Parts: sequence; C-alpha cells; structure tokens
Amino acid sequence: MANDKVSDSGEIVIIGASHAGVQLAASLREAMFEGSVTLLSDDQQVPYHRPPLSKAFLKDPNVEVQVLRAEDYYDENNIKLIKPVCVIKIDPDNSVIELNNGVKLPYSKLVIATGARPRLLNMAGINANGVYQLRNYDDAQLLRKASRIYEKVVVVGGGFIGLEVAATLKHLGMDVSVVEAAPRLMGRVVAPEISQFVLEKFEKMGISVSLDMPISQIEVKNGNVSGVICGEKHFASDMVLIGAGVVPNDELAKDAGLETGNGIHVDVNFQTSAENIYAIGDVSAYEHWLTGTRIRLESVQNATDQARNLASFLTGKPETYRAVPWFWSDQADMKIQMVGLSHNSKSVITRENRQRGSFSAFHYEENNRLIAIDTINAPADHMAGRKLLGEGISPTPEQAADADFRLKNLLN
Ligand code: APR
Repeated sequence: MANDKVSDSGEIVIIGASHAGVQLAASLREAMFEGSVTLLSDDQQVPYHRPPLSKAFLKDPNVEVQVLRAEDYYDENNIKLIKPVCVIKIDPDNSVIELNNGVKLPYSKLVIATGARPRLLNMAGINANGVYQLRNYDDAQLLRKASRIYEKVVVVGGGFIGLEVAATLKHLGMDVSVVEAAPRLMGRVVAPEISQFVLEKFEKMGISVSLDMPISQIEVKNGNVSGVICGEKHFASDMVLIGAGVVPNDELAKDAGLETGNGIHVDVNFQTSAENIYAIGDVSAYEHWLTGTRIRLESVQNATDQARNLASFLTGKPETYRAVPWFWSDQADMKIQMVGLSHNSKSVITRENRQRGSFSAFHYEENNRLIAIDTINAPADHMAGRKLLGEGISPTPEQAADADFRLKNLLN
C-alpha cells in the first residue's frame, strides 16, 4: 500500500550482521522503509543463528549452519549485505565510516550492532595447538574438527558456552573436565539452587567439575596442549576450550568519542551520545526498565527485540521498550530457561517435580515482588513467567513453592 511507505532518501548503515543487525534490516523493510539499508558483516558466511553452534552443529559433521534469512532474502528486499568487511573508523563529525578496503561510506543513520567477542585469557600457553574458543562459524568448524581428533578436554569456564560444549563433547565420547573460577556454575545468571542441580547432573554424566578453580596457565609440550594448571592443581588434557565470558565490541564507538562503559551507552531509543548513531544487541548498555540501572544483556531475545523497537523508532512509530528479557541454554537433556533479571534477588523459592525432572527457582525482591524465574525442563513455568513479569503479577511464595499450582491461573 503506497500510503504506508516510509520515504527516506537517507542511508541506514548497520555495522554487524548477526541477530540484531539482520533483524533491524528486516524490520525496517517490514515497516516499509524505502531508503537504502546497508548491512556490513565481518563474517564470510551468510548471517546465521549462533545458538546451534555449541550443540547441533558441533554434534553432527553433516549439520549445516542455520541461516537467519535465506541467501536470496537480502537482494530480494534490497538490503545491501557486504561481507566480509571490517569497519575501521567512525567519523561522527562528517557522518562517514571507513572500511578496511579503503572505501568511505556515508550514512544518515548509523547502527552499531557489533556484538561481543570471547574474553581472551592472557596467559602462558594460550596460543598452543589444541586451544579453542567458540563464538562464530569459523570457531565452530575448528572445534568440530578438533572434537574428532582429541580425546581429553578441559573446559575453562562453567558458564553457558562452557557447559553446553562440555555436554556436547561428552556426548561425542570425549573425556571432559570443567574448571570454573567461581564457587558455582553459571553464577552470573542463575540461582544457586539451579547451579547445584546442574552440577549434580554433570557429575552423573561423568563430567568432572572443579569449582573455585581459576586457570593459571596452559601446559604445553612441543607446541601442543598437555594440560591445564590451576594453582597447585594439574588437569591432563590434549585440548582446551575457553568459555570465560565475552567482552563487548565497543572500541569503534570509544575511538569515535561516544560514551561507553561496559558496552556503548544508549538512551531509551537506543541512541548513543552521538547524533544519528544507535547501538543495539550485546554491545548496547541501556537503563533497563526492570532494574532501573544501566545494563548490557547477552541474548538473542535482547538483540531481536531491540532491533524491532529501533526499526519502529527510525520509521517514525516510536514505542516504549518494555520487552521482558529471557535467555535459554540447552545442556544435555536439560532445557534451562531464564526470564526476568535476578540481579536484585533477595530470596529464592524453588519447586521441583521429580517425575518430570523439572526444577524452577523464583527470585523475589522485597515485598514478595517476583523479578525472575530460572527453570529446568519446566517450559510452562517459563512461558507463564514471561507474561507474569510483563504484567507485573507476582505469585505468592506459597504458590511458587507448590509444583501443582499452575502459574497461568494468575493470568487474565
Ligand atoms: N578460569 C576459570 N573460569 C573462568 C575464568 C578463569 N580464568 N574466567 C572466567 N571464568 C568463568 C566465569 O566465572 C563464568 O562462570 O567463565 C564463566 C563464563 O560464563 P559466561 O559469562 O556465561 O560466558 P560464556 O559461557 O563464555 O558465554 C558467553 O555466549 O552463550 C552466549 O550470550 C551467551 O552470554 C553468553 C555468551
């Protein structure tokens, strides 16, 4: 319908073509934006889903990468996907960016969706043969090949990536150990009760987990990994997977004088401190409506919901951003799902259904206000939680503790 078209002679340039960048380009076109959309990727691949890289892709050498949109989609929708290319400079004064192939690209609106990268551990042995990380397709290819060659792996970091990969490599028949610096697993995001549940599950699977065990160095013999050293402890291995968290790719913004901290600071419309420059996804740090504090979230939901919201704003239909954050991690037969933000958790109530193998942890702030639910194999609790938190409804602690109480009964 001609009347619905959003005319704009301007150029929207998006740096980064992962979950946030691709969703933004698609949402702009869905909102009938007619101006030019350029999507810059530093990855050779057609943009793809990242979550399967640590599971289905790693498990089976015949599994292909799962693309976010079909290869033809970009041309068909007049989205100029340029890959592989690196942006080396943003010049906000002249509204131009510089690429590593010498091209200078003008923009009328620039969106930084550069995501995050694995945190490097600067220590002896880190460059030895047999050390891997996992963030992108190339990493996953190398890891998949390595998992068919090596026998004994130490996974450094008991967070999402570490535990997902540990479970997959065990499934493939490897001898797997996990060393985690903190006193519990996934401490950044889940309740201690969930950490304990997962720890027991991993131990039952025959994966040895060592907590309070920060890595000191990687032991190397003839250029190859021969083990991992954590203080006094030695773990023999021929392969190491580092899953020690991520850091935001915010250097371009920082160098251009934009306000940054842990990520690029943005306002309620995802605008940075520079005019006409926006940031979304893992790299953006914004004041969250649930906590009232500036935070940076690492999730597919956060990336895609922010992208949709920014597309509305850029096409003249601003909407208040009120998405309820949720996350997931599949580890062996455990579907771990988190909804809400548990940063301010003051008390935790659990419910368990042994028959179903399900376990949920409800986080409360003062005054019995529900702020987050972490679940294992309890999708009904998770789905109800998304609605409850969106509507600001809290089950009483008694209702939360009762595995037979259906949370959806509280919804209208
Ligand atoms: N030695 C041992 N463990 C360490 C060390 C170290 N030197 N440094 C950090 N760790 C541990 C942390 O304590 C934490 O438990 O590594 C874990 C990292 O976990 P996450 O922060 O969840 O990060 P990661 O698992 O790398 O996942 C990064 O990828 O799955 C996506 O977006 C998802 O946020 C996630 C991101």
